[in-house]
Amino acid sequence: LENSVRNSIHQTLGEKKMRPVARTVTALAVASVAAAGVLNATRPGVQEKSVKLTAGPLAQAGSVGSMRSIADQADLKFGTAVNMDVLASNEKYATITSKEFNSVTPENVMKWESVEPSRGNYDWSKADALVEFAKKNNQFVRGHTLVWHSQMPDWLKNGIKDGEFSPPEVRKIMKDHIVTVAKHFKGKIKQWDVANEAFNESGSERYTLWREYLGKNYLADAFRSAHAVDPKAKLFYNDFNIEGMNPKSDAVYALVKKLKTDGVPIDGVGIQSHLATQLPFPPGYAENLKRFAELGLEISLTEVDVRIELPVTSAKIANQKSQYQELFAGCLAVKECDYITLWGFDDGNSWIRDWFGGEGSATPFYANYKPKPVWSVIKNSMMGSGR
Ligand code: G3I
Repeated sequence: LENSVRNSIHQTLGEKKMRPVARTVTALAVASVAAAGVLNATRPGVQEKSVKLTAGPLAQAGSVGSMRSIADQADLKFGTAVNMDVLASNEKYATITSKEFNSVTPENVMKWESVEPSRGNYDWSKADALVEFAKKNNQFVRGHTLVWHSQMPDWLKNGIKDGEFSPPEVRKIMKDHIVTVAKHFKGKIKQWDVANEAFNESGSERYTLWREYLGKNYLADAFRSAHAVDPKAKLFYNDFNIEGMNPKSDAVYALVKKLKTDGVPIDGVGIQSHLATQLPFPPGYAENLKRFAELGLEISLTEVDVRIELPVTSAKIANQKSQYQELFAGCLAVKECDYITLWGFDDGNSWIRDWFGGEGSATPFYANYKPKPVWSVIKNSMMGSGR
C-alpha cells in the first residue's frame, strides 16, 4: 500500500515512476551534501544566496519581522510539519520552528503506528512533547492523522489482513482509536486530518483495508466519532494531487459534498500541495478552491513543498518560486483558505530525499538552516495578500 502511495504521487500528469531511495544511499548523499553545507549545492553557479530572516528585500517591501508576525497580523495560520527527533536535538531547528510559524503539525508522531504501537497501549510521549512545545510557544497544532491506510502498526495491519479480526471488531478498533486519540488531545488541536488519502488518481476509491472491511461509510463514521469527543476541533479530509481540477479532486468534492448533505461533521478539506517543478502548476487551482469554499468548507494547504529534479538550475529555481507564489496567493485570495503548512521547512529534514530519487531542494530553507530567496517570495505573497 505504501508503495502505491509513493507511485501515485508520481503518476500524476504522466510523471515517471520512481522507486523509494534506499536509506544507506540517502545517508551517504546527505552526509556529502551536509559537508557541502547545503542540500542543493550539486552544481556550483546555481547556488542561490541565502536571505536574512528579517531584512533584505523584505525590508524594502515595508516588512521587518518574522513570517510568523506577518501571519499573525493577517490572522492567518502558517505552519510546518515537525520532526520530533530533530526538534529535540537541534537548537537551530527548534528556534526557526518557534519563531517563524504559528502552527505545527506532527510529521509522524500522531500517526497510528506511533501512538498505538500495540493494541490498547498508547505511547503519547513524542506527540505530547510537540503539543507542549506548541503551548509554550503559543502555536496552534494540526492533528495528523486519525484514519489512513499507511503507517498502521503491524498488529493492526497484519491482524486485519490475516482475518484475525471480524469486520465488527475492525469497526470497534477504528472507533476506539479515534475516540482515545481525540480525547487525549481534546481542546489542544485546531484542525484534525480525520481521514487521509482515501482516493486514487483516477477518482476511484482507494481499496484500503478500511474500505474493504468497513464499506463505504467508514469515513462518515470516523468524522462522527472524532466530533463526539472533541466538538471544537475542526475536522478535515486530507489528500494529495487535489490542488487543481482533475478526477481525483472531483471525487473528493463529491465525497465532502455528500458528507455535508448527510449532516456529517466535516469542516474542511486539506489540500496537501506536494508540487514539483517538472510538472505544470495544477490547472484549475482557483476554480477548485472556489468550489470547495462554496460548499461552506474551510480549506487548508496542509503539506506544501515544491520539489526539483536535481541538479538545481536557475530556471528550476525561478519555476519553484513561481509555484510557491501561485500556491500561496491563490489560497489567500479565498476567504475560506487561511491555514498553510509547509511539509518541513528545510531540505535537510524533508521527506523528499528519502522518497524521490534524484529530487530535492523542495523547501524554503537550505540544509544549513539558512533561508533561500524563495522564503522572501513566500513572505511577499503573504504580505501582498491584502488580508
Ligand atoms: O520510525 C522508523 C524507525 O524506527 C526506523 O529506524 C527508520 C528506518 O528507516 O524508519 C522510521 O520510520 C520512517 C518514518 O517516516 C518515521 O521517521 C519510515 O521509514 C518512513 O517511510 C516514514 O516516512 C514518512 C511518510 O509519511 C510515511 O508514509 C515521512 O517521514 C512523512 O513525511 C510522510 O508524510 C506523509 C503524510 O503523512 C501524508 N501525506 C504524504 C506525506 C509524504 O509522504
